[in-house]
Amino acid sequence: MHIPLLDLEAHHAPIQKEILSAISHVVQSQKFILGEEVSILENHISSYCQAAYGIGVSSGTDALLLALMGLEIQASQNEIITTPYSFFATAEVIVRVGGKPVFVDIDPISYTIDPEKIERAITPRTKAIIPVHLYGQCANMQPILEIAKRYELSVIEDGAQALGATYADGRRAGSMGTVGCFSFFPSKNLGAMGDAGMIVTNSSSLSSQLRTLRVHGAEHKYYHRLMGGNFRLDTIQAAILNVKLKYLDGWTKQRAHNASRYETLFKHTDLLETSDVILPAAMYANTGVSNHHTYNQFVIRAQERDKLRAYLQEHGIASEVYYPIPLHLQECFENLMYREGDFPESEKAARETLALPIYPELTEKQQHYIVENIRSFYINLKR
Ligand SMILES: Cc1ncc(COP(=O)(O)O)c(C=O)c1O
Repeated sequence: MHIPLLDLEAHHAPIQKEILSAISHVVQSQKFILGEEVSILENHISSYCQAAYGIGVSSGTDALLLALMGLEIQASQNEIITTPYSFFATAEVIVRVGGKPVFVDIDPISYTIDPEKIERAITPRTKAIIPVHLYGQCANMQPILEIAKRYELSVIEDGAQALGATYADGRRAGSMGTVGCFSFFPSKNLGAMGDAGMIVTNSSSLSSQLRTLRVHGAEHKYYHRLMGGNFRLDTIQAAILNVKLKYLDGWTKQRAHNASRYETLFKHTDLLETSDVILPAAMYANTGVSNHHTYNQFVIRAQERDKLRAYLQEHGIASEVYYPIPLHLQECFENLMYREGDFPESEKAARETLALPIYPELTEKQQHYIVENIRSFYINLKR
């Protein structure tokens, strides 16, 4: 059996006609740049996220970059607090606007930034916090928002992996902070057929500022009030996303269904009792607070992770490590002077975590095969 990490062919097959017709509509209109499909998507995504405004942009990375530019966090030595356990772009954009990333370790259950550790990282130069809603569940936002309010900091939600995720109190990812940033990279729950992203916000003035920055800082063509860039979302990508958005809740339900099926299958082995495998949980450590997970990734902790991954690969099962090197140990951040041991939970997660296939079209038979192979790996290991 061959099981990919994501099966885009199976994912797109049932809606291919609809997508081609949406693309064809854009081709007929010839409005390739900021056509009406972009504003339709902006309205749909902002209301889906319970936010007032949506600004379609070229990628999730550019959403974060533009958000920082819009919040004018450019001056050097401005510090921005974030997690070292995320995709590289989260910290990269801070350096690109001239700021300094300050890392704070993660909560070991949700893998999101640990609010209890944020306050001691704040200095007079701190300007913002970027919590990342990793793998499809929200960071523990309430304490983060309280800290941000106390110290007058902006909060930029990196929701790239978590469109539609809901925090404990029912608020949607992206609607809680100053801005929310999303990616429509093809592997996301709502994926484009290329790069695309979105910023959502409840601030009318920030929304106008971001729209201006998106087109080289010009409110009127060729009259540049600000230094911006080309951060526009393609009309064709927006048209594809408008088609796919209708199916998103169904796909997310299917992902959650697959997650609970994994739970049942693992419970029928002794892997959880022996702690060879620890399953993901939609909650935060020591808080009793749970949330709604959208399972962009189903990430387990596994003893002998790298050997398990190789074994699964030999048996035709794809898996992935998100992320093998925490950001504070990346070569390009050497100048930040972090050392191994600075963020033990992030480093431990980088050693132990493994993403298993969780895509909506994954079948029961395939999940059986995956769990059975994980079981046989540990039986062989202990022989
Ligand atoms: C947490 C996180 N932030 C930012 C990004 C960047 O998004 P994009 O690839 O659309 O630029 C990603 C994409 O994988 C991500 O997972």
